[in-house]
Amino acid sequence: MRNFIAIMPPSHQTLCKDDVAEAASLLRRGELVAIPTETVYGLAGLALNEAAVARIFAVKNRPHFDPLIAHLADASWLDRYVRHVPEPALALARRFWPGPLTLVLPRQENIPDLVTSGLDTVAVRVPDHPLTLQLLRELDAPLAAPSANPFGYISPTTPQHVLDQLGGRIAMVLDGGPCRVGLESSIIGFDGDKPLLYRLGGLSREQIEAVAGPVEMSLHQSSDPRAPGQLLNHYAPRTPLLLGDPALLAWEHPGRRLGYLAFQAPPDGPWMTGRVLSASADPEEAARNLFRMLRELDAQPLDYILAERLPDQGLGLAINDRLERAAQR
Ligand code: TXA
Ligand code: MG
Repeated sequence: MRNFIAIMPPSHQTLCKDDVAEAASLLRRGELVAIPTETVYGLAGLALNEAAVARIFAVKNRPHFDPLIAHLADASWLDRYVRHVPEPALALARRFWPGPLTLVLPRQENIPDLVTSGLDTVAVRVPDHPLTLQLLRELDAPLAAPSANPFGYISPTTPQHVLDQLGGRIAMVLDGGPCRVGLESSIIGFDGDKPLLYRLGGLSREQIEAVAGPVEMSLHQSSDPRAPGQLLNHYAPRTPLLLGDPALLAWEHPGRRLGYLAFQAPPDGPWMTGRVLSASADPEEAARNLFRMLRELDAQPLDYILAERLPDQGLGLAINDRLERAAQR
């Protein structure tokens, strides 16, 4: 599961600029381009081009049973790729697109099996970033894009994060600056008309329920290839991460090189280094900082990262979900 070496050797220079026309021309030729979104950077290829989609899996070292999200320019594209849109899905799309919401809907035949891992559904979303929306309109075709990180590692929220791990293996990073939300999209599927929450993300459960009514949690935490959703040990730094009260955990690990990841204020302890997610205790700011700070801590020679949970409200729930996954060994 923890394999950080992409299987393709670095072969060419990866461009990094904000040139949408160049990104479009590379994608049309079947190349891969990392795209900015409000959530995290995506590793994009033309969703209807099977060879390009196959390269996404290869570059990420991602197992084929983990399906991809198709990114659309706007909700009117649903008619092209989806068979049926339940009423609450339409209401959610109207309210939150473009935005950090992915809908899992019955797919049409034109979506390659490789994108959906052979499932009868396709995950779709309209990302909220001006460059990527312009790119999608220019292409007039959907982009398949998982987060632009090697499989199992932390998602990238800056162009540099993408270059650090995938530089030389993809044609270009479309530079749209740092991501505004910093957590992946929330994923909603449907059992008939009943919404099911598959992944907590940049849209809080409260925001979703305000539009769709009560939403059942259906967070898949397994490595069962048939279960769509996410695998348990995703979002993991290489350094072991322990979740709890960092000051207490520090006592339990004397003589070790320790780093903390705290919500609002530095905890007491013999720290080598540490990061505070939001001095003003703002979960949205914490979300924006989370993956960058995890990467910064992971780059230090630490034995452990000791992290604390946020209050279980708003984006705090999604942040805690990522921390719990990062803590899985
Ligand atoms: O914010 C995001 O969603 C980012 C940006 C780039 O859009 N993308 C992203 O993609 O996080 P990825 O591949 O890292 O996560 C997509 C998740 C996976 O856990 C996958 O299992 C789930 O979406 N998924 C995709 N298609 C599905 C389907 N048909 N049914 C259920 N889950 C699906
Ligand atoms: Mg991912």
